Amino acid sequence: MYFLGIESSCDETAASVFTDEPKVLSSIVASQDRHHERFGGVVPEVAARAHLTQIIPVIREALKQAGIEVNQLGAIAVQNRPGLIGSLLIGVSVAKMLSVALKVPLFGVNHIEGHVFACQLSSGKPLFPCLALVVSGGHTLFLDCASSTKQVRIGDTRDDAAGEALDKAAAMLGLGFPGGPALDRIAAGGNPKAYDFPQGMNEQGNLDFSFSGLKTALLYTIRKLPAPLDEQTKADLAASYLDAVVKSLVRKSHWALKKTGHKRLAVGGGVAVNRTLRTRLEEMARKAGVELILAKPEWCTDNAAMAAVAVDHFREGHFSPADLDASPQ
Ligand code: KG4
Ligand code: ZN
Repeated sequence: MYFLGIESSCDETAASVFTDEPKVLSSIVASQDRHHERFGGVVPEVAARAHLTQIIPVIREALKQAGIEVNQLGAIAVQNRPGLIGSLLIGVSVAKMLSVALKVPLFGVNHIEGHVFACQLSSGKPLFPCLALVVSGGHTLFLDCASSTKQVRIGDTRDDAAGEALDKAAAMLGLGFPGGPALDRIAAGGNPKAYDFPQGMNEQGNLDFSFSGLKTALLYTIRKLPAPLDEQTKADLAASYLDAVVKSLVRKSHWALKKTGHKRLAVGGGVAVNRTLRTRLEEMARKAGVELILAKPEWCTDNAAMAAVAVDHFREGHFSPADLDASPQ
């Protein structure tokens, strides 16, 4: 049975064809970076309009690469929450239209569940039960996962998501948009101990995150330095800032593992592409005797293959109604 997965929650227009195994046959992602670059961030209305023009070509390409025709699809899965409402509406409308026209079931799936499921897709091994850390541009949270479809949030950010904090720091350093990958690149040539940046909500056992103090600390540090910043100073600031974000993520992952007793940690979302984070999580997991399952880099950032969590919803009989809604939450 072939599923079509659709993702349009933020600024990536994506489609994927996967089987009910699930095996991913194609995964197409059209980035909108060039649309948002000049604004220095994602503009919701621009994102929605870009989804509108990109979505049909992206679906066509996903079908073509999978080597199937549209009438061979047996189900449609769409990530209908959370996200930017205007963006979500495009994916959800197209998914509903296809489901009605092809007379196949519709599955509205949670984007966060998808980020966790990307870890199972990546490893090909059973993942659940586990602790999951989803760390992206919109989210930084811990989930206590009994299964792919039963997850309880046990920690969240009180202000910015980690990716958002990295993007804003990159903007302060004049690195352009999207900032996370650029900050990661220059941090490689910097000294992570050059500046001592604060880690928010750092009391023992606290599973919530806060990155606003860190962001303010960077701003004040930059203001005190002679302008314009030279390349080495920028690299040192980037490395020290990234170090503070990574330390917070790794330390709290350890606390969350202890609290839940899970022996498996799944990590997904765009920030999980980061090499420093991946390496430090590996060290922590090895010392703690925990199995670490990281999503493959191409399945960390937003994509539609992760909508394959719909296969489990299908098995459990969670079909979505024809009046399926989109939700920002
Ligand atoms: O999962 P994602 O594509 O979108 C959301 O659901 O938010 O994550 C995007 C985030 C952005 O904040 C981006 O800066 C960050 O992932 N990111 C990175 C790296 N690549 C992407 N952060 C740090 N290092 C990277 N290499
Ligand atoms: Zn995401």
